[in-house]
Amino acid sequence: MKSTNTAVLEPLFQVEEHPNNTPENAQKYLLSNFENTYYLGYRDVPGLLKKYAKGKKAIDYGCGTGRSTRFLASLGFEALGVDFSREMLTQALNIDSSSHYLLIKSAQIPVLDKSYDVAFSCFVFLTVPSKNELTAILKEIHRCLKDDGIFIITTGSEKLYSHDWISYNVNYPENKHLSSGAVAKIQLKDLGLDFINYFWTDSDYEEVFQSADFEVVKKHYPLGNSDDKKNWISETQHAPYVIYVLRKTDQNRKKSWQKRGTLTRKVLC
Ligand SMILES: C[S@@+](CC[C@H](N)C(=O)[O-])C[C@H]1O[C@@H](n2cnc3c(N)ncnc32)[C@H](O)[C@@H]1O
Repeated sequence: MKSTNTAVLEPLFQVEEHPNNTPENAQKYLLSNFENTYYLGYRDVPGLLKKYAKGKKAIDYGCGTGRSTRFLASLGFEALGVDFSREMLTQALNIDSSSHYLLIKSAQIPVLDKSYDVAFSCFVFLTVPSKNELTAILKEIHRCLKDDGIFIITTGSEKLYSHDWISYNVNYPENKHLSSGAVAKIQLKDLGLDFINYFWTDSDYEEVFQSADFEVVKKHYPLGNSDDKKNWISETQHAPYVIYVLRKTDQNRKKSWQKRGTLTRKVLC
């Protein structure tokens, strides 16, 4: 239904482009498929969705040129792609007439509370520069999800900047001693693009999930194997990505933990 998704590029907000998202980069990004290392960011997601998702309404947070939105649509989801890059969304709209797209400001999704079953965010969290912004995004997704909704995040693992991969060159001096929140450089070899990312550890992610009232249902490291039929380099030994499946923290369970914590502290005093 082309008519419904072409109107969405009307500016809902004033947005500034991220330096990664030049028109040239967006055009090249459109060409990236599920090839090589990227394949591992997606390969196991259908199984996770099948196991944990309860319905078919999905938000794709940071949809870029729509690869991840088209992926959700191909699995039968009614997918809404949201992104703060006009350049990326323009490319998505050019080739996709089956999904809906919205230009947003970071962490502001103009949909009703508790109206979505699933949120998916692939290769986005590693580009977010602060824990405050990560937390704001998570809280906004939390607001949009139904109580039994899930949020699946594919992001860079702690190994991403220290090994050789088919699709990435990460061999830069800046990446040698990365600490939490540091700028990390990555070259997308297949596309000839240089991107700036941020290095977040597992415990950084776990901290922001908790601050936004999410709990981890499943943490998965996708490794390459021979069935993939790729010329893997480090991908069979080290996972370039980590995939989290989150659900909303059960408030009753949280209260009972907090009560138990208080009792334990009282007993110890
Ligand atoms: C590397 S691309 C991934 C695109 C797509 N998910 C995929 O798998 O092909 C990252 C996208 O996230 C978007 N993005 C990054 N930070 C964002 C934020 N805070 N709010 C909305 N979109 C964001 C960028 O504009 C970019 O289009």
